[in-house]
Amino acid sequence: MIMQHLVSMEHLSVEEIENLIQKAMQYKAGEAVPNLQGRYIANLFFENSTRTKCSFEMAEHRLNMKQLNFESSVSSVQKGESLYDTCRTLQSIGCDALVIRHEQNHYYEALLNMGIPIINAGDGSGQHPTQSLLDLMTIYETFGRFEGLKVVICGDIKNSRVARSNFHSLTALGANVVFSSPDVWKDDSMAADYVELDDVIDEVDIVMLLRVQHERHDGNAQGFEKADYHRQYGLTEARYAKLQEHAIVMHPAPVNRDVEIADALVEAPKSRIFEQMSNGVYIRMAVLAEILKG
Ligand code: CP
Repeated sequence: MIMQHLVSMEHLSVEEIENLIQKAMQYKAGEAVPNLQGRYIANLFFENSTRTKCSFEMAEHRLNMKQLNFESSVSSVQKGESLYDTCRTLQSIGCDALVIRHEQNHYYEALLNMGIPIINAGDGSGQHPTQSLLDLMTIYETFGRFEGLKVVICGDIKNSRVARSNFHSLTALGANVVFSSPDVWKDDSMAADYVELDDVIDEVDIVMLLRVQHERHDGNAQGFEKADYHRQYGLTEARYAKLQEHAIVMHPAPVNRDVEIADALVEAPKSRIFEQMSNGVYIRMAVLAEILKG
């Protein structure tokens, strides 16, 4: 079945996830990539982004697609045009697919019957499916499996679309996921156990750190000083030293150095942070090729 949209990891089967990871790994290994010459795409980012926006652009270039230059700050959105009308306009003038990041959870629901593929590049605190897929690819490259892996996702769970997407997909793939978080950022809509990081640090295969999302905290530091957060919930050098030999460290980035992770550990041997970013290009190529293959 051809994938029409990619808006949530909850809409992908295990088989579809595995297929996208295999495709991305083939592209990374240098196998031929599809030529999507003559296909047009627009990247609509209503929230800031470096990695997701640039790696979609890189993926589109590598597939030989043409991009329409859309900048919300100088678009008719500033005159009050709705997201629906903006997308309908881009479809009318010949776009074949839209990549969208928007601050509103589930913004995509109003767009799914428009007749143009929607690829969710992050909706509020909802989902970030291509981040989840690139995280899964990075895990698969390291371990060659998901079944039975022990994963701790640590930090701002409540505001994190990465936590939501990865909790769902890792659990579906057979991993055991626990959360570690200050009370204020716990989210009981996901059925994971909460643990102290120090109680599991020497048992887990994967430590997945989350960015403290100041922009979603209404300007309120929520009781944490940088150093306090790092001491209680961050990956310190002392915690890193307790990790199993084969364990890896992940973070979707951008990283707040010395908050979620000690500065010296960002590029430590167990860190996969920059590998995650590299893999993002191949995963986004696989998603675009799959959605546009019709
Ligand atoms: N990981 C991630 O989504 O980064 P950006 O916000 O820079 O796209």
